Amino acid sequence: MSEWHQVASAADIKPDEPIKVQIGDDDIALYNVDSEIFATANICTHAFASMADGFQEGDIIECPLHDGRFNIKTGKALCPPVEQDLKIYQTKVEDGTVFIKV
Ligand code: FES
Repeated sequence: MSEWHQVASAADIKPDEPIKVQIGDDDIALYNVDSEIFATANICTHAFASMADGFQEGDIIECPLHDGRFNIKTGKALCPPVEQDLKIYQTKVEDGTVFIKV
């Protein structure tokens, strides 16, 4: 069953500077896109790379290893070599605190 987990302060997630958090076995990347917080799986679907170490531009995250790109809001894989979408997580912000549903 999914539950909300408190993971970060919204102020710590700067635009184009994703951070990573761990909830149980889930390695998750958090992004600020136009002051809204989004969350995806942190590990690339192509090989073992941390999306939080990647290059964010608006709602696009580029993998640091082979430059695969994903849409942060939908998790959609956008270009080779990535083919499989990233898992996305539901987020909410309450009083400046970020929660993720896992
Ligand atoms: S590990 Fe991300 S594109 Fe290869």
